[in-house]
Amino acid sequence: MNQQHSGTAPRGRFITFEGIDGAGKSSQLAATVALLAARGIDVEQSREPGGTALGERLRELLLHEPMHLETEAMLMFAARREHLAARIEPALAAGRWVVCDRFSDATFAYQVGGRGLARDKFDALEAWVHPNLQPDLTLLFDLAPEIAAARVAATGADPDRFEREQRDFFVRVRAAYLERARRAPQRICVIDADRPPETIRADIERLVRERFLA
Ligand code: TMP
Repeated sequence: MNQQHSGTAPRGRFITFEGIDGAGKSSQLAATVALLAARGIDVEQSREPGGTALGERLRELLLHEPMHLETEAMLMFAARREHLAARIEPALAAGRWVVCDRFSDATFAYQVGGRGLARDKFDALEAWVHPNLQPDLTLLFDLAPEIAAARVAATGADPDRFEREQRDFFVRVRAAYLERARRAPQRICVIDADRPPETIRADIERLVRERFLA
């Protein structure tokens, strides 16, 4: 967990949003950023893979270029290394909050759970890239893969390399996310994403208020 540092501004908070494609996290993320900004909090919104100029270029490759699963895992962490160095760490140190669409839990879910990457390789990459940092709070949007797939299809957009995966892949990704949540119950809150957006939004507001704004 992040420590308060000894400078003038207290260290910012790091909040991440996770879930399978189509779980509905991105619109809720925007609402959370707006909520924090309305409270006068200096907050940055970002995403992974991406968040920096280099990270966005890596994102293009990751979403569209076929590659070996270990290449995929290492590129996810390469983009993350850059993101941490160029944006996340400086923001948190200056007291700004960072709300990020996906972080390393996604690599555990998609590359270990979905693709079958060896766990010790994931553990080694995570320990290399961010040995002392985890999000202060992670909101995991949990939804049945059938419902999520229907939502992705309804957007009408061209599916990327991940969105083209079949149901079995997302069943494994979802299970890996839930396993990770069981191992870090204080940090990862599971949100039932099969409810009306206003209900989910109210839940998140309550969680964020209780955790950080009370
Ligand atoms: P997005 O559609 O939520 O922006 O995420 C892009 C895709 O990248 C999504 O299908 C999940 C995938 N992904 C991974 O496979 N591993 C990761 O570490 C991250 C951050 C994303």
